[in-house]
Amino acid sequence: MYKFALAQAFVGSALAGTVLWDGRFNDLSSSTDLNNWSWSNQVGPYQYYIHGSGPVTEYVNLSPSYKNPADSSSNQGVKITIDSTSYWNGQNMRRTELIPQTSAAINSGHVYYHFSVKRSSTNVPRADLEHQVNFFESHFTELKYGLLSGASGTSDPTLKWCIGGQPQWSTTFDADVWHNVAYDINFSSNTVAFYHSTGSNPLVLTAGPVSASTSSNGADWHLGVLRLPMNSDLNSADVEDWYFSGVYVESGSLNTVIGSGSNPTTTTTTTKTTTTPVRTTTTPVTTTKSTTTSSKTTTKTTMVTTTKSTTTSTTTTTKTTTTPSTGGTSPLYGQCGGIGWTGPTGCVSGATCHVLNPYYSQCLSP
Ligand SMILES: *[C@@H]1O[C@H](CO)[C@@H](O)[C@H](O)[C@H]1NC(C)=O
Ligand SMILES: *[C@@H]1O[C@H](CO)[C@@H](O)[C@H](O)[C@H]1NC(C)=O
Repeated sequence: MYKFALAQAFVGSALAGTVLWDGRFNDLSSSTDLNNWSWSNQVGPYQYYIHGSGPVTEYVNLSPSYKNPADSSSNQGVKITIDSTSYWNGQNMRRTELIPQTSAAINSGHVYYHFSVKRSSTNVPRADLEHQVNFFESHFTELKYGLLSGASGTSDPTLKWCIGGQPQWSTTFDADVWHNVAYDINFSSNTVAFYHSTGSNPLVLTAGPVSASTSSNGADWHLGVLRLPMNSDLNSADVEDWYFSGVYVESGSLNTVIGSGSNPTTTTTTTKTTTTPVRTTTTPVTTTKSTTTSSKTTTKTTMVTTTKSTTTSTTTTTKTTTTPSTGGTSPLYGQCGGIGWTGPTGCVSGATCHVLNPYYSQCLSP
């Protein structure tokens, strides 16, 4: 009996790995806490600098109603918004993104990036424009939504898992359906697999593993949305809301259960009372369904950001970021033209500049 109990306990604990970084928003009382972070005061779970010129509450808001209700390890979720002011750093893409603020080894070994994502039936994401969602800067793994840049047709309402910009799997993206995801990244073997489920269902290996150019500096995974511009929509008054919850990076064994981890709000029935938000350290996850649809092959996308920080400084040293680079050439996947673009129009050797639309040209390998 005793041995049996021990074995059971061991099996239970083996179900989840170790949380390396917790981005579940349990530590934040409101999105205005993100304003605590700056390049010279790097505090809190997230770097917050990729957004438009409005107040944080125009782009990021927290609420218990914004999380996957099956996820008991999260007290709340985040609503990420892009609107007509969501242009950052002189770019022509709408962007609202959060980046992990951590020195944990989320960029080496074998790790799992967990999150849940949904849309609602209001402020619906446009299916006629490419969105890059929860991506690494080199785009070795990410989700995309909408008509991919360069693809034929006028709209594409599917959510896709992509490697190097190429769709590997897709599904419908219906209103109010939570999609739970884990990017299974082995930085040692340079492979990525995709776990997915919907609602409260446990994560299932859905695609991969496939080879990928896995690399990260540990501060270039973007939680949020980047929408590529098209035609004359730069000033469009449309607004999009995206919802995310259960965000964390885990190592060890993959936890496939949504919300199985330590519950941040523990209520005890007996004498104790309530203990409140506590940081969770182990567990959670997400889940959801699957459904497959085709995949398309399309092209690329993106843009890039670079980040870097700098500690020293004094004033505004801040970031560096993105595009407008200095030299006369842009890197592979960098922007090299488009209406409003004032950066380099050449590409590094081995890449050529392709016009994707009037607002965006990108350096691609031939
Ligand atoms: C942000 O700063 C406020 C005011 O100092 C503080 O109350 C809050 O706890 C901070 N939030 C985080 C997440 O550190
Ligand atoms: C990750 O890749 C390394 C190198 O190929 C391999 O030794 C290791 O077993 C892989 N880890 C897992 C969990 O698959």
